[in-house]
Parts: sequence; structure tokens; C-alpha cells
Amino acid sequence: MGKRVRTAVIPAAGLGTRFLPATKSQPKEMLTVVDRPAIQWVVEEAVAAGIDDVLIITSPTKKGVEDHFDRMAELETLLEAKGKVEMLASVRRITDMATFHFTRQGAPLGLGHAVSMAARHVRDEPFAVLLPDELLPDGGATLRRMIDECEASGSSVISLFEVDGPEISNYGCAGFSSRDGDVVEIDRIVEKPRFEEAPSNLKVTGRYVFTPEIFAKLAVTEPGQAGEIQLTDAMAMLIGDPGLRGLVIKDAGYDAGQKLDWLRANIELSLDDPVAGTEVAEMLAGIMKSRGLA
Ligand code: G1P
Repeated sequence: MGKRVRTAVIPAAGLGTRFLPATKSQPKEMLTVVDRPAIQWVVEEAVAAGIDDVLIITSPTKKGVEDHFDRMAELETLLEAKGKVEMLASVRRITDMATFHFTRQGAPLGLGHAVSMAARHVRDEPFAVLLPDELLPDGGATLRRMIDECEASGSSVISLFEVDGPEISNYGCAGFSSRDGDVVEIDRIVEKPRFEEAPSNLKVTGRYVFTPEIFAKLAVTEPGQAGEIQLTDAMAMLIGDPGLRGLVIKDAGYDAGQKLDWLRANIELSLDDPVAGTEVAEMLAGIMKSRGLA
């Protein structure tokens, strides 16, 4: 039995141009989904999967992200004095759910470069990477399965999702040599291939569990697609050394960095909310009816 996965690395240094003007002066990771910033959903997912240490890779415009996971003494004192017990608990929970660390990427050299910033922190342990644009509100079940698969097999494990047609060209794409249920043994992986050259219809989604060998691979990864150091190119070097597997997931959650899908996340997740859900459903039904849409 090897070392356990304890740390989640969350690359949050991107500019968020897909969501302008909302992201002109606030980090895209701080956009509200229902009642909390998108990145809090992602941290909660990691914690639900058993992780208690979180390293967020940031850039100079991300101070709001750091502040969100820090204590806010003045606010806590105020809520305590006013007897706002539930609000106080919801604020404290943010800082208490894990140990948080932050490091700056320094230069926008790509996702692979961002992940390589975690090497000194993670050292020789397996670890998870969660892209904070993607919300997978499944109570950590997918990530937990990936962690178990990595710890049992000694291979890195990434999440994959079937897409239709040319959409594959927007993502990393993995081909495989064998399949056992929903787990595949990856034998080829390419970043944003042309549709005609894609090794499969399986896109790489934003959940990864890496063995520490990824750091040695990243250290020798040359700039690739878009002139950036691509995580996908380093992953290709893990194939067979020590191994790269994919978990094919049935639901890829939401891309909260994209306007329409962010809206879908807000609607569906507020419908799921145990307190507000019924009211939201009534409100939506009312809107649809008043517009003659239902
Ligand atoms: C990144 C990865 C890509 C992956 C995608 C998932 O691309 O490089 O392999 O499929 O995230 O969202 P980006 O969205 O940064 O272009």
C-alpha cells in the first residue's frame, strides 16, 4: 500500500475572459453559484472525497480567493454578538474544512506549469487536481473513486467524458487500449486534437489524481499547444511509466466558467437546495407560465 492522497491542488490563475464583463475586476472562481463562490463548491467536493489539505495556485488578481478561505475576525465577532449562530457556523466552516495554502504562478505559462508549482508542497505523495471552472456536485463520489483507483493501482487516474463530434477539439482527448467497466487503460492522450485526428470521443474533464511522477514529467515538458506547458503532454509521459488510467463518467457536471452553463448550475443546484428548492421551483414555473413557455 502506497502513500495516501491528502492534498488537492486547484489551479486558479486564469483570467476568465470567457465571462467578461463579470470577471473584469473579480476572479472568475468567486462568481456566485447559488449561495457561495464557485471555488467553494470545488473545495467542498475535495473535502467530501476525504482531502484535508488544499493548495490553490493563484495570480495577482485573485486576492478575493485567498480572503474567502481566511478567517474574518471582525465578521465573526459581529455575528457572535448578534447571536447569528447559523451564519457564523457557515462562515467558520469555510476555514475549518481544510488547511489552505496559496502560491502564485508568477507567469501564465499554462496549466502544466501551474500544476508544477505544487511540487515543493506535495513532494512524493499522490495528489488530486481539480479545475475550479468545473463543478461536480456529487458529494465527492467521483473523486473518491479516482483516489481509490490510484491508491490501489499505482497509476494516475483522470476523469473522461464522451462528447459528440468536433467538440473534442476544445479539450484534451484520450484513447485507450483496454476497458474494464468504466475504467480504461489510456494509451494515447493529446491536447485539443483536430477532430479527424482525435484518438477517441473521450474528453479530459477537470479532475485528476496524479502519482508524484507527474512532477518529473512536467519538469521536462516543452511548450506545446498554444505555446503553453500543457498538463496533457506531461500526462502522455505517464503512459506505461508508471501508468495512466481514465474513469469514464456519466455526468460531467457544469462548466461554471461559461455563461450559459453557469446559469444552468445556478438553476439546478438551487432546485436541489433543501431549504430554497421548493420556492425556486414555484418561481421558475411562474416565470415559464407568464411567458407562455409552459
Ligand atoms: C484544460 C486542459 C484540457 C481539458 C480542459 C477541461 O483546457 O488543458 O486538457 O480537457 O481543461 O476543461 P482549457 O479549458 O484550459 O483550455
